Amino acid sequence: MEKKYIIKSNLRDIDSVIKEISSDVNIFFAADDLREFLLGIYEMTVNAVEHGNFDITYEMKKEWLRNDVYEEELSNLINKLGHKQVFIKLEIYKNIITIKVKDEGKGFNIQEQIKKQTMDNILRESGRGIIITKHFFDDVCYNEKGNEVTITKILKNKLD
Ligand SMILES: Nc1ncnc2c1ncn2[C@@H]1O[C@H](COP(=O)(O)OP(=O)(O)O)[C@@H](O)[C@H]1O
Ligand SMILES: [Mg+2]
Repeated sequence: MEKKYIIKSNLRDIDSVIKEISSDVNIFFAADDLREFLLGIYEMTVNAVEHGNFDITYEMKKEWLRNDVYEEELSNLINKLGHKQVFIKLEIYKNIITIKVKDEGKGFNIQEQIKKQTMDNILRESGRGIIITKHFFDDVCYNEKGNEVTITKILKNKLD
């Protein structure tokens, strides 16, 4: 099965797409796994909005969180750039679930990003979305430009 979802760049759309995906895949997961599965999709979708469509850099996000202005800055950007879209595709083939999340941004280099983050303190409040997602998913892979991520989960005991 294959299903596509298109959302605008705002928190309500992110919430409702996560709920919809949840009802589309919940038959495949135990409750704890479903939560981690949805968390990964949520993190990748938030990244598509904030870093992709809104062009918030790693440094800007850190700075805004430190100055406690992150929510304010984000809602300004939602007003200005909320029309930008995120394209999500869910594919289930045999025991493999693949989700692609694509944004309208300029992309980034994942290798350079990993280097940057390892220099940072592990206790930082940002810079964990990709790490958390890699923890549960079997594969997290970016296209060359960096504006589309493909995350893959292999189900251990799904019969087709
Ligand atoms: N879709 C994207 N477009 C551009 N840059 C991205 C995208 N996704 C992630 N990034 C970059 O990777 C960094 C790490 O992402 P993440 O682990 O989710 O941490 P955080 O979002 O808290 O910064 C982001 O700060 C950003 O620089
Ligand atoms: Mg993030």
